[in-house]
Amino acid sequence: MRVAVLTISDSVARDERIDLSGPAVVQRCRELGWEVTSSLKCSDDPGQVRSHLRQLADSRRVDLILTTGGTGLGPRDNTPEATLDVAEKVIPGLAEEMRRKGAELTPNAVLSRGVAVVRNVSLILNLPGSPKAVKECLECILPVLPHAVNLLTE
Ligand code: MTE
Repeated sequence: MRVAVLTISDSVARDERIDLSGPAVVQRCRELGWEVTSSLKCSDDPGQVRSHLRQLADSRRVDLILTTGGTGLGPRDNTPEATLDVAEKVIPGLAEEMRRKGAELTPNAVLSRGVAVVRNVSLILNLPGSPKAVKECLECILPVLPHAVNLLTE
């Protein structure tokens, strides 16, 4: 599995805050034996998010794009909208499962508006922004991801 990780955060992009969530995603993917082909950061600007997602998915060299951050209710939280803008298909069940299992751990899990979509042969999945949340959310849907990715190229 070839994975790209994209941290979406104004403060991380401006180097005002150290990114802990992107590296947490990278570490988990590597533990699973997946190949992390890139680990990038960008601001919450929807144009920037769309541009990064398009570039990664249109390369047709990435199976899974994991974003972290920008899924909440703040005025600069634009990740789900930007992701839907570049989507060809939406997979509601994956995001619902992250919220359903997450809510068993913390009621705040329902506040993430993250989506799961397909563009070209890439599955794009929005994870929340905190290192704790990314680990929990990723774990919830791990068993489904290899099969989901295989279906994209069948
Ligand atoms: N999901 C899980 N599993 N664990 C968490 O701690 N935090 C929630 C939610 N999802 C959380 C979670 C919180 S507090 C918020 S505000 C939203 O994700 C959105 O986070 P984001 O704006 O950093 O993307």
